[in-house]
Parts: sequence; C-alpha cells; structure tokens
Amino acid sequence: MIRFVSVIAAVALGATAVAAYDDVVKARQDAMKAIAGAAKEPGAALKGEAPFDLAKVHQSLAVFQEQGEQLKSMWPDGSDKADTAALPAVWQKKDDFLARFDKMVADAKAAAENIKDEASFKAEWPKVMSNCGGCHKEYRKPR
Ligand code: HEC
Repeated sequence: MIRFVSVIAAVALGATAVAAYDDVVKARQDAMKAIAGAAKEPGAALKGEAPFDLAKVHQSLAVFQEQGEQLKSMWPDGSDKADTAALPAVWQKKDDFLARFDKMVADAKAAAENIKDEASFKAEWPKVMSNCGGCHKEYRKPR
C-alpha cells in the first residue's frame, strides 16, 4: 500500500512538474507568434503583395529585438518534456541555440540602422529573416 501510494505521488509530482513548464512554453510560443506577426506585412511588401511602409518595417524590427532578447530566458531544463515543438537539440546545444537569438537581435539592429528606403529594405530584410528558418531547421520539430 505504501509503495502504491508513493507511485501515485511520484506520478502526480511528475505531472505537476510538466504542468509547471506549460507557462514558459506558452510564453515562448507567444513570443514566436509575435515575431511571426511582425514579419508578415514586411514579408508581403518584399514580394510586392503589400505596399512598402518604412515605419511598419522599423516597428517590426523593434519587435524582433525585444522578443529576441526575452526569448533567451525561456528554455529551462525540464521544459523539453512539456508539450513543445522544440527538439532535444535545444538543450543539447544550448550555447549555439541561444547565440542564434543574439544573432537575430544583432541582425535586426543592423537592419534598423541600414533600412532607409525600399531599396535598402529589400537588401536587408532577407538577412534578418534567414535567422528564422536556420534555427527552425535544427531546433524545431517539422510540422
Ligand atoms: C534561436 C532559434 C529560433 C529563432 C532564431 C527563431 N525561432 Fe521560431 N521557434 C523556435 C523553436 C525552438 C520553436 C518551438 C517552440 C516550442 O514549441 O516550444 C519555434 C516556434 C515558432 C513558431 C510557432 C509558435 C507556436 O505557436 O507554437 C513560429 C510561428 C515561429 N517560431 C516563428 C519564427 C520567426 C518568424 C522567426 C524569425 C523572425 C523565428 N521564429 C526565429 C526557434 C527559433
């Protein structure tokens, strides 16, 4: 009976431990959604499917920098066991993974300094966006 109870307790504890990571997983997925949302309109402008809007582009770059910084602290050990699309590689190669956020932030900052018109936008924007796919390829489960 004691053994049975402790098994139940251990299972319950395990469930609590995973649930405890639900918030941080949601926070990082929300942050990713925020940058994806910010990328949408400039992405359409790049393809000529929306008008180029310089102010909007700078707003988006500010979102990348802000969320990119915050995202660095959202991968605690144990949150790999939660309901997440992040691959184990995130925790196996944590330094490389986190450095990619620094690079995304640095690229967004450089783009913010260099983008002054549509021509500079077309040259700079893809450099920032290459950070997304590059990281997803190695660190996110394919959908
Ligand atoms: C350093 C790595 C990295 C970079 C850079 C990165 N992502 Fe992600 N992204 C991830 C990981 C890992 C997940 C899975 C998160 C999870 O499920 O816990 C994810 C998830 C997402 C999701 C799904 C969110 C959801 O609702 O579950 C979207 C959308 C997304 N990223 C968009 C972007 C865009 C757009 C960029 C570039 C501007 C970007 N990401 C840059 C690693 C990255």
